[in-house]
Amino acid sequence: MSRADLVVVANRLPVDRVEGPDGEPTWRRSPGGLVTALEQVMQNLDGAWVGWGGKPDLDVEPFEFDGTVLVPVPLSRDDLRDYYEGFSNGTIWPLYHDVIAAPVYKRSWWDAYVRVNRRFAEAAAKHVQDGGFVWVQDYQLQLVPQMLRELRPDVTIGYFHHIPFPAYSLFAQLPWRRQVLEGLLGADVIGFQRVEDAGNFQRSIRRLLHYPTKGETVTVPTIEDAARTVISRSYPISIDANHFLELAQRPDIIARAQSIREQLGAEKLMLGVDRLDYTKGIRHRLKAYGEMLADGRITGKDATLVQIASPSRPGVEAYQELRDEIEMSVARINGDYSTVETTAIRYLHQGYPREEMVALYLAADVMLVTALRDGMNLVAKEYVAVRADNTGVLVLSEFAGAADELGSALLVNPHDIEGTKDILSRSLQMPVAEQARRMKTMRKKVFDNDVVKWGQRFLDDMETSRARRNDA
Ligand code: G6P
Repeated sequence: MSRADLVVVANRLPVDRVEGPDGEPTWRRSPGGLVTALEQVMQNLDGAWVGWGGKPDLDVEPFEFDGTVLVPVPLSRDDLRDYYEGFSNGTIWPLYHDVIAAPVYKRSWWDAYVRVNRRFAEAAAKHVQDGGFVWVQDYQLQLVPQMLRELRPDVTIGYFHHIPFPAYSLFAQLPWRRQVLEGLLGADVIGFQRVEDAGNFQRSIRRLLHYPTKGETVTVPTIEDAARTVISRSYPISIDANHFLELAQRPDIIARAQSIREQLGAEKLMLGVDRLDYTKGIRHRLKAYGEMLADGRITGKDATLVQIASPSRPGVEAYQELRDEIEMSVARINGDYSTVETTAIRYLHQGYPREEMVALYLAADVMLVTALRDGMNLVAKEYVAVRADNTGVLVLSEFAGAADELGSALLVNPHDIEGTKDILSRSLQMPVAEQARRMKTMRKKVFDNDVVKWGQRFLDDMETSRARRNDA
């Protein structure tokens, strides 16, 4: 198998292993946000993708899928417990999302994180061309850039951080904070969602490593030659907006949206679509909604809330507790405020294909994206992309990265329950002319800066970095 010009390294491969009609396992493209974001970029290059195949102990040879070489990295059950559920999702995830849940610092988890990051770095080193590009994705793999640089000093390395980078006062809690920064600084280009994330990262570099930063660069001293310049800046990720728009124009999907509307038993549909994660603010949203019903500000006839909470990280304790809390709260609200004809909250603990999501977006009068903290939130952008008639209201948390670009949404502080209730009332009553004015501005942003632009901006900076290195 020839080596690739561009190797993407991510925790997960862009495919899921499923059973084919004959009972034989086959691979199917998975619907995740990151996959969606990168599939366009990969199609135009001779690419490979290094990642976990989604099942424990799965050890299969690299294979080709839709023109991309996929390189499965095996993870044992212990790796999954300590590296994935442990350090990635029990330490880094809560710490980087402003300690909404308490991070756990466990040395055995750190050891597994180092061990597994090395495995990913070795796989990438094996599959990249001489002088090629490697683009590492996300918080599960923060040590890969430096490990890879040691193995393959000839390649240009990028790293994109999909989640927030926390303020220094929080990051400083991490017992392995210096190792993580050094790991990231192995990259030539380090990308963040928001300007604020890049600022937080640079502040941590100055405070902990004392390396100088200037504008969008960090100067890293090296022993052997002149200092290295690392680019660190924001590249807000986006969606394939035209693809969503095309789906929204399909007659079967429009019919599905109409049928959802007809079955509601309420005048307005409010929609929440999230992974079941404590960062998403689902509990706060339910509290605000339940109080509005209790106060008589809305009735089940005025509105219904459809809340999709797709199953996520069920092996992590904080997610199990959250599920119990949410389900208790939905049951209480429905018990108190549903009638034989109306349902206050339709709660769905399931994942859905993209077509069904688009039908729901088309059916929804109000989209609720009220995360307590979120790197970007692509659901907000997907909703905006499908609303071609410029109707609909996006209620968006200030703490989601998307708020930087979608300032014309109704912005909300989800911790402020009274404020959220006021915004929800306003969203239900917003005149069509105001909806259109806001939606037009947001749609322009989403269509102007789609995922292809995002990928191109990042790769352009990698090119620049490579050219600079070759000149030196
Ligand atoms: C977030 C992260 C991704 C991750 C996704 C799903 O969007 O930024 O890196 O893949 O959540 O989480 P999971 O743990 O199922 O991969």
